[in-house]
Amino acid sequence: MIQIDGLTKRYGRFTAVNNVTLTAEPGRVTGFLGPNGAGKSTTMRILVGLTDPSSGSAHLLGRHFSQLPNPGREVGVLLDASAQHGGRTGREILTLAARTMGLSKASVGETLERVSLTEEEAGRRVRNYSLGMRQRLGIATALIGDPEVLILDEPANGLDPAGIRWMRDLLRGFADDGGTVLLSSHLLHEIEVIADDIVVIGNGRIVAQGTKQELLASGESYARSSDPTSLGRMLQSAGHNVEITTDGAVRTDADLATVGQIAFDAGLVLSELRAADGAGLEEMFLQLTAETQRDHLETPEGLDTPKGKAA
Ligand SMILES: Nc1ncnc2c1ncn2[C@@H]1O[C@H](COP(=O)(O)OP(=O)(O)O)[C@@H](O)[C@H]1O
Ligand SMILES: [Mg+2]
Repeated sequence: MIQIDGLTKRYGRFTAVNNVTLTAEPGRVTGFLGPNGAGKSTTMRILVGLTDPSSGSAHLLGRHFSQLPNPGREVGVLLDASAQHGGRTGREILTLAARTMGLSKASVGETLERVSLTEEEAGRRVRNYSLGMRQRLGIATALIGDPEVLILDEPANGLDPAGIRWMRDLLRGFADDGGTVLLSSHLLHEIEVIADDIVVIGNGRIVAQGTKQELLASGESYARSSDPTSLGRMLQSAGHNVEITTDGAVRTDADLATVGQIAFDAGLVLSELRAADGAGLEEMFLQLTAETQRDHLETPEGLDTPKGKAA
């Protein structure tokens, strides 16, 4: 269980994390989604005691990170997979982690297997690893102490679609065993594939949170009929918003039962009737990303420092 309450982090006059409150529940994979610069890494660094908050609190398993007796056995952390020592082999890095945590040597081989790094790969120096291999090794380091909580910052960076599915299955298994997972990403698609619950952050603030189903559901219906124009007209006269999609289907804010009833009353045959795909989250996220990029462009004017001088 992860609990963050009213967390704020200021750097001078800049607020990187602004009154963030969120929970990540055991048995669930919680995705922390936000464009670059939104405040994800700062929040996670505070969570593991690497940065002090300006105000608010962050607890893991009911305690502050510094109060955990053997943190590696309780919380697995991956903050920056490219920070691993390039001159060591993957096996050496894991062996060191195992020794620090007082784990058996056998745990090294078991964990390598769990993240699908082969003997040969584990024997290579990390500087010769692909980003995807570094991520697997980083996840191995987080997993080796058999923790209850995983905190992973952008763990899917550099993974191909098969790698992302692999990670989903791994984290699913971890959560099904009762573990708590908080993972961040700046890509909606990754979070959609991997997470059960989603927390969206933009410009340091939480802008949405809920289950994936809740956030992806549009609350609209999608219907195909032999006569979409008539169906659309009927729905409109019943007071609903209607859009005929480019592929000739009807999209409306009426619920499924209403669409079915109206079609039935009008004697129209439906060949498809289902909940419409949600564009809500995607649109919100695109807007957040666009805003952040605009902010970056406007930064020199946004700050009241003379032009041409570093802020
Ligand atoms: N040590 C720091 N000093 C000043 N600004 C910082 C510092 N660390 C992060 N920031 C700023 O805080 C914001 C959030 O950063 P970060 O948490 O890394 O975002 P994310 O991980 O979502 O991309 C960014 O604008 C970043 O430049
Ligand atoms: Mg980050």
